[in-house]
Amino acid sequence: MSSHVLQADKSVVTTSAALVSALALLATVLFLVAALIGVISRVPSDDGSRKDVAVIERIKPVARVAIAVPKPAGAEIKLTGQEVYNKVCVACHAAGVLGAPKVGAKELWEPRLAQGLTGLVNNAVTGIRAMPAKGGNPSLTEANIHDAIVYMLDETGLKTDAAAK
Ligand code: HEC
Repeated sequence: MSSHVLQADKSVVTTSAALVSALALLATVLFLVAALIGVISRVPSDDGSRKDVAVIERIKPVARVAIAVPKPAGAEIKLTGQEVYNKVCVACHAAGVLGAPKVGAKELWEPRLAQGLTGLVNNAVTGIRAMPAKGGNPSLTEANIHDAIVYMLDETGLKTDAAAK
């Protein structure tokens, strides 16, 4: 009988020792989880916004939408086609970035010019595939785009009616 009691005592002791260490382990795990959540919840607000800014920066040239804001007459700065080209278009059209037709490459421009100068101007104003609307500069006018295209065609050795004026 007494050995039975002793055994029971022993098992109670073992059980409670196991219980205590299990609880201690649980407490430790909960503490670590809580600490981790604390760290995680503090980081993203910072990191997330930085990531968003980086994403916006990366997608900007392609995703930008040109909104025609009517400007008061006289506020417009008159730029020649060459000035517009050197300011904006040169970034892609000098070296053929993103598959842009290079200035001077007649074989690349001729099939495009086949649609007519007006078609080219319209596509450059609204954007076409990797070419952003107005070359990514919404402050340019349709006339700026037209003049820049005439300049590029002229440099390429392709004459348009407008180039003769
Ligand atoms: C970010 C680079 C980039 C800039 C800046 C840029 N272009 Fe382009 N452009 C392109 C690419 C790429 C194409 C070829 C698009 C295609 O057909 O897939 C293109 C094509 C064109 C075409 C041919 C359109 C057609 O109908 O085939 C014209 C015209 C043109 N660009 C004019 C301009 C003018 C004018 C400017 C400056 C105001 C300019 N581009 C600035 C990238 C650019």
